Amino acid sequence: MTHYFDTVIIGSGLAGLRAAIEASKYGSVAVLTKLYPTRSHSTAAQGGISAALENEEPDSPEWHFYDTTKGGDFLGDQDAIEVMCEDAIRTIIELEHLGVPFSRTPEGKIAQRRFGGHTRDFGAAPVRRACYSADRTGHAIMFALFEQSELHGVHFFPEFHVLDIVVKNGKCIGVITIEIKSGEIHTFNARATLVASGGYGKVFKTTSNAFASTGDCLSILFNTGLPLEDMEFFQFHPTGLYGLGILITEGARGEGGILINGKNERFMEKYAPTIKDLAPRDMVSRAIMTEIREGRGIDGKDYVYLDLRAVDKKIIEERLPEITTFCKIYIGIDPSDAPIPVLPTAHYAMGGIPTDIDGKVLKDEKGSVVEGLFAAGECACVSVHGANRLGCNSLLDTVVFGRRAGIAIGKSLKDTEKQDISKNTVDKVINNIDGLLNAQGKEKTATLRSELQTIMMDKCSVFRNEADMEGLVKEITIIKERSKRLGIKDRGKKFNTDLLESIELGHLINVGEVIALSALQRRESRGSHYREDFPIRDDENWLKHTFAFKTERGVEFRYKPVTITRFKPEERKY
Ligand code: FUM
Repeated sequence: MTHYFDTVIIGSGLAGLRAAIEASKYGSVAVLTKLYPTRSHSTAAQGGISAALENEEPDSPEWHFYDTTKGGDFLGDQDAIEVMCEDAIRTIIELEHLGVPFSRTPEGKIAQRRFGGHTRDFGAAPVRRACYSADRTGHAIMFALFEQSELHGVHFFPEFHVLDIVVKNGKCIGVITIEIKSGEIHTFNARATLVASGGYGKVFKTTSNAFASTGDCLSILFNTGLPLEDMEFFQFHPTGLYGLGILITEGARGEGGILINGKNERFMEKYAPTIKDLAPRDMVSRAIMTEIREGRGIDGKDYVYLDLRAVDKKIIEERLPEITTFCKIYIGIDPSDAPIPVLPTAHYAMGGIPTDIDGKVLKDEKGSVVEGLFAAGECACVSVHGANRLGCNSLLDTVVFGRRAGIAIGKSLKDTEKQDISKNTVDKVINNIDGLLNAQGKEKTATLRSELQTIMMDKCSVFRNEADMEGLVKEITIIKERSKRLGIKDRGKKFNTDLLESIELGHLINVGEVIALSALQRRESRGSHYREDFPIRDDENWLKHTFAFKTERGVEFRYKPVTITRFKPEERKY
């Protein structure tokens, strides 16, 4: 079946929906999602969205700009960071007017709490900058934006899995998908395509990410020859529920929770004497892993405690109901009475599809753009988060840059000719699917996926070194070869998850390989990328963005300078 829309958006998370609302003012919009829209991973965002509203104490967009730059270890592009922080206050007021039920102060203002790396006076002390809706902030924003998208006449195509994003002669002309319930191929011709497909945390074994976060669209674009930027930077959130990886919001520490080791010590005092447990995530995750490696985990095991017992019970009930429920359901404890066992969990991709500040996808490190192709949200790298994202800046990124992309798309439509995806191109995709459906090999998708996730976790997570990563690249190459011999058991068309997971596996392998190769190249430590063999940040040689390209000779690298406008790199002390 063939569809025609002015704009096609892949992904119904916050970036996709915010862009859809804007683009719908200029023409017809289709949103494709492999889930049901309100199940997008943005709903999992718990603790808040940042803006210097000053509702609880003095704050400023300039401090927000500084914190974001420093939190990202000076790799973020400061023109983009400034845009985001300056637009934050307007964005929150707009969200409130669109219907987001933010938590309130006693006087009825939007309440704000502390979060990692949010400070006043350029690092002097923690500040309350995170606006929140209890610990279900992503969920609250998602439902408001979904309702608004419906009001704006956006067409939703739920449970449509993207098979190809068609870029012909430097121009994107649409998307080829498979409808999950029927197995039918649907082609969407579009003047503009926005990729807002979220992250790829499922490349790691322990993650806070949803099952759907498999990096499909990044991998598809990478295969067409477009670059991926800064893929070595993947954030591990310090407090994943031990054994499960489920997110326990940093808001818990913002409300007074502390981390303790097996000796009952508040160990963050040692690593970040000024802001302690509210240091940026990369530092807290490394601190936790160091405590464990040095034998100070709880009972010598591989976890520490997040202790909320000193936090007022009423605050926990009102502001942290979601994580309280998680703790009760999954590990049978009430965080008011017992400490929560936690371990870092793969949480957020700083790297992704390179874009400018209007979401236009870059085809090279020089800044040339791909006509008709846009990206926003976690799949994109604009780059506001640099080497390490501060908590609450991801929701802000999705709505600020989703809106900007929607406006840029709207403006681009009048100059863009419609072009149909050829039958030949569609047939090639159908042949690939038929090939997979008839695959008679012995390898199992789930086994290869699990092996990949395990080696990525063991060799390329919080701590990295050359020997491990070289071994990792070799192992990924073997998994890639084995994935050519998959055996698909389900040969039917309807809800064929065996087929879809096999397609996703190919994308995970692709993404895992780029992460590992990019990390091997970068011989320094910066933000989330910590090299035990190169433990020092090296601005002289590495204050630059990585651009990885797939070529016939294998993955090749080029580099792009960081945009520095206001804050010169400095030592990162907290
Ligand atoms: O800890 C959290 O609530 C996560 C927030 C974020 O990733 O921004």
